[in-house]
Amino acid sequence: MFVTSTVLRGCTAVILVVAVSTVSTHRLGPPQKEECVTGKYPPPQTAEYQVPKYVVNLDLPAADRWTHIVKERAKSIVNLLQKFKDFVKALDAKLAEKIFDYVDHNLGNLTNTLPQPYADEIKGIAKATEIPLGEVLLYNIFYEIFTVCTSIVAEDPAGKLYHARNLDFGLFMGWDFKNHTWVITEALRPMIMNIEFQMKGQVVYKAVTYAGFIGAITGMIPGVLTMSMNERFNLDGGYLGIIEWLLGDHNGKWMSFLTRDVLMYSTSYQQAKETLSKDELLAPGYYILGGNSSGQGCVITRSREKSLDIWELNPGKGVWYLLETNYDHWKAPLFVDDRRTPGMRCMNQTTQQNVGFAGIFNVLSTKPVLNKLTTYTALMQVNAGKLETYKQHCDDPCWPW
Ligand SMILES: *[C@@H]1O[C@H](CO)[C@@H](O)[C@H](O)[C@H]1NC(C)=O
Ligand SMILES: *[C@@H]1O[C@H](CO)[C@@H](O)[C@H](O)[C@H]1NC(C)=O
Ligand SMILES: *[C@@H]1O[C@H](CO)[C@@H](O)[C@H](O)[C@H]1NC(C)=O
Ligand SMILES: *[C@@H]1O[C@H](CO)[C@@H](O)[C@H](O)[C@H]1NC(C)=O
Repeated sequence: MFVTSTVLRGCTAVILVVAVSTVSTHRLGPPQKEECVTGKYPPPQTAEYQVPKYVVNLDLPAADRWTHIVKERAKSIVNLLQKFKDFVKALDAKLAEKIFDYVDHNLGNLTNTLPQPYADEIKGIAKATEIPLGEVLLYNIFYEIFTVCTSIVAEDPAGKLYHARNLDFGLFMGWDFKNHTWVITEALRPMIMNIEFQMKGQVVYKAVTYAGFIGAITGMIPGVLTMSMNERFNLDGGYLGIIEWLLGDHNGKWMSFLTRDVLMYSTSYQQAKETLSKDELLAPGYYILGGNSSGQGCVITRSREKSLDIWELNPGKGVWYLLETNYDHWKAPLFVDDRRTPGMRCMNQTTQQNVGFAGIFNVLSTKPVLNKLTTYTALMQVNAGKLETYKQHCDDPCWPW
């Protein structure tokens, strides 16, 4: 246990080091100066942008649901875990050895404390890929704490709702000085996939994920609601919750499993809003939720225990979109990480008349909303049941986060 908490604090220390050295690189300049880009949608029909679609059949036993996907993708999961090991090794080789010894021999046991069907899904993935159970669990824990993102929910003049997000991942886990890329981000991009969760051959919900990750941090119940989750940095953050969980306190819910529950069981926007506001969580976060009718859009700011604030669309009062990054909307963002101001400036320039996949995709393709951590942009329109995902790339000069 001790070892695990140490590495997590180790990561925090790295954050500071990298932040200082990158900010002093004036080649990058202040990130806010980018013009809002146009004409980016639709992206080319090439493997560089398109992502595959898979079906997960919920009628199958949980342990077998992901087998067809992860068997095909085992190599990329191993590669990603290796990149993470290399990163920890570079921090402290001895410590890394202890940690991965713990992960391979002990962490796997904790899978049994996860709720079903998630415990069996994770076990099934470990079995199908022949990756140690503890490593598959670790891989599924990652996203609980390191996800930096931008989410937008917006309403067009006819009252139709759109919901979109960039998923930025890999912060501070190894910078490739030659290529100016984040090592983990690059390894993740080929693993992005759209998933249709089906029962009796019918789509129940859709989500975007990385091969081997069973959570749903971007998803939709066609006709009913759309949802995305952004990390919220906080002292009482994901680290503490996860350490408590490792130490045996299993009251808090994993955010990425809670989102699967919401997509599986919610029958309305209101009900999902209530669930996401109330359940105790392992980590603080932001839930961005969209419904299927005018005015149904909100950002729920969560501590681990409760909802701190619900920020709502109000088209009658001119609030036709909400844009959330990784900061409480009533506070200023961290000055070296302001994706909110450029994102809002571009939304304002787009105007409500142009709300749609093209308009929002352009906003999310503008630097630094688009940055070196961005793996994908997902676009959702709930009434049409449409979910489109595109891999994103940020060419130099480009802000690292
Ligand atoms: C799980 O726990 C048992 C009992 O404490 C232990 O013997 C075993 O080595 C642990 N690890 C795995 C991977 O089963
Ligand atoms: C860096 O870029 C080169 C050239 O594009 C590529 O061949 C190489 O695989 C990249 N390295 C990594 C670690 O992504
Ligand atoms: C919105 O969702 C509710 C709850 O599922 C449903 O009853 C209603 O018909 C939906 N409305 C539209 C416009 O799709
Ligand atoms: C965008 O428009 C809103 C509403 O008019 C305004 O409050 C906000 O300051 C604008 N933001 C930027 C960055 O232009």
